[in-house]
Amino acid sequence: MLDVSYGFGSISSSELKQEFRKRKTSQAPIDRSGVWRFRELLPFVADPKQVVTLAEGNTPIYDAHRSAEYAGLDELRFKHQGLNPSGSFKDNGMTTGVTQAVALGAAAVACASTGNTSASMAAYAARAGIHAFVFIPADQVAYGKLSQSLEYGAKVIEIEGNFDDAMRLVRELAGETDLYLLNSINPFRLEGQKSIVIEMMEQCDWQAPDWIVLPGGNLGNTSAFGKALQEMHNLGFIDQMPRLAVIQAAGAAPFYELFTAADKSKLQPIEHPQTLATAIRIGNPVSWKKALRALQWTDGIVERVSEAEIADAKAVIGADGIGCEPASAATLAGIRRLAASGVINSSSNVIAVLTGNLLKDPSYTVGYHTGELILPDTAGERPFRGSFSNRSVRVAASKDAIKRLLAL
Ligand code: F0G
Repeated sequence: MLDVSYGFGSISSSELKQEFRKRKTSQAPIDRSGVWRFRELLPFVADPKQVVTLAEGNTPIYDAHRSAEYAGLDELRFKHQGLNPSGSFKDNGMTTGVTQAVALGAAAVACASTGNTSASMAAYAARAGIHAFVFIPADQVAYGKLSQSLEYGAKVIEIEGNFDDAMRLVRELAGETDLYLLNSINPFRLEGQKSIVIEMMEQCDWQAPDWIVLPGGNLGNTSAFGKALQEMHNLGFIDQMPRLAVIQAAGAAPFYELFTAADKSKLQPIEHPQTLATAIRIGNPVSWKKALRALQWTDGIVERVSEAEIADAKAVIGADGIGCEPASAATLAGIRRLAASGVINSSSNVIAVLTGNLLKDPSYTVGYHTGELILPDTAGERPFRGSFSNRSVRVAASKDAIKRLLAL
């Protein structure tokens, strides 16, 4: 695993904070990007004209009252990375990853993916005019995501196996061929994903919250958040380190197992990871070492949540008028657990990162509301009845029938 490391020299955090703000009024594409606006903190591009951007980042932070109440907190905020151009936080890292690929003269990029990385890579590769090869686990990628990779013109290769099989194969192929690998083991992707927390700190007027909560799968994002916070702290952008809380689905929680084990020297992969939050259905996360380092830097923790907890939490986030895909909702489910066990104080300042858009996985959402979701951790039982399901009703095409139905 490689890290990008800079001699930042004599950076003035106060001058840069002003410069970052000033760029918001600029029309230059490199300034309109919520990644490249912070370029002094990821200064690896020699020629800014090579930057491949879709005006990514610039995502809002929302107050979420129903979610806060559900979690047992006074307040809770969500930074919604699902409002990126391709609908997930991957765009923050793909603008930097594809820019580096172009700088190196790569003709083709590749990744293994549970769907979002591939959708994002396909979009940026299309912008850059280079070939994209995506390796996805057959029949395990949500349709919103699969449709994006197809539409953006990537060569989609469905592997008869799970994500970890696809990851292993594409890593080996990248070693033997000219394919440039754009999974998060590529350190230039993580440089871009740092901007998620850099922008978050700017939105908080550089006053770090007590907790930043995010879902964990392949653990690239956790790694990037840790590096960003460590660098911002060292450079004087923030005075206080927030704590990271990483939430995993219980059926795909090797990092939780590692975190709670006495011996943290080696992650034990989970051979058959299971969760309907397919984005984080990963048993052998490649970035676990960097993620563990991030937890050490931030006094971070890992929690795991059940399928039912994820499903209900997702509907609560929806009820706040925000919405997200299943993996993102693991955050709220995790916060609720951590608040109940007293790890997170009810008056704490908490920001959770919603990693993907509601529209990524419509089958899951409709299944929840119609009572047709079969949760893998309750296999053999009846379909799951969500606590917040909201069924549609069918009625004859007549005003009288509608009036009777709605008791108008
Ligand atoms: N949330 C969503 C919506 C994701 O797509 C992913 C990862 C994660 C959370 C976990 O982030 O891997 O950095 O720990 N999706 C990858 C993909 C694996 O291929 O799209 P992580």
